[in-house]
Amino acid sequence: MNSLFIVFHVILLASSVHLTNAASYEYFKLALVWPTTFTRIHASGMTKPKIPQHFTIHGLWPTNFSLPWPANCANNQPKYHFDKSLMTATLQGHLAPDWPSLLPGQSNMDFWTAQWEKHGSCSAERFAQSEYFEKALFHRHNLDIDGELKKVGIIPDRIKTYSRSAIVNAIKKTKTLQVEPELVCFPDNGNALLWEIRVCFDADLVEIIQCPINKSKGVNLCKTKSNSIIIPV
Ligand SMILES: *[C@@H]1O[C@H](CO)[C@@H](O)[C@H](O)[C@H]1NC(C)=O
Ligand SMILES: *[C@@H]1O[C@H](CO)[C@@H](O)[C@H](O)[C@H]1NC(C)=O
Repeated sequence: MNSLFIVFHVILLASSVHLTNAASYEYFKLALVWPTTFTRIHASGMTKPKIPQHFTIHGLWPTNFSLPWPANCANNQPKYHFDKSLMTATLQGHLAPDWPSLLPGQSNMDFWTAQWEKHGSCSAERFAQSEYFEKALFHRHNLDIDGELKKVGIIPDRIKTYSRSAIVNAIKKTKTLQVEPELVCFPDNGNALLWEIRVCFDADLVEIIQCPINKSKGVNLCKTKSNSIIIPV
């Protein structure tokens, strides 16, 4: 009985080690978007009542520390293509408020499909499709970035500006997040609109890690003059 139990454990251990080695990415980046900024940049036609007033998920991206980053992994492994039948009504109901498509011409399902095809498929060995979407939601809720900003008086406003460090510190000092998130901005008349907040995780989606910001060339990291960041309404 005992030795059977040990054999079982060895097999389990061996298979989990195998899984780890088979990973085709090194860490995850959870990108949360401020919908009003996105709408200003991409889709000025979207009308206000429909724009969520909280950070929503742009994507959960399996990434590597150095370029090139993994993408479109089902092209080599067709079994990892998006499977619409796995998007149960319950899962869709959970995703709709927190991972909506913000483009007027794009359905939520189209957005989820595109994100899975480009990104999720690259971690499919570790996180199957349903689990991938659930994990993204779990971490989005767990971080509660909206709540943490509000606590220190950082409130979205049409003209009010905040410094990068005030925003970073508000998020950084939370229990769950002890490292700097990556901020992404969009220039706006001498100020900067807060566009995304991105948080990095280890390959198991358990521990939050420092985002390797040195690899984000071409991205505006909000390192503008102080007190110039607007979180627009
Ligand atoms: C990403 O990293 C993993 C593990 O180091 C590696 O197997 C994979 O080939 C890398 N992907 C790309 C696109 O370079
Ligand atoms: C970028 O950051 C990663 C992880 O933080 C590090 O391993 C790598 O050496 C850095 N690359 C450069 C060019 O600084």
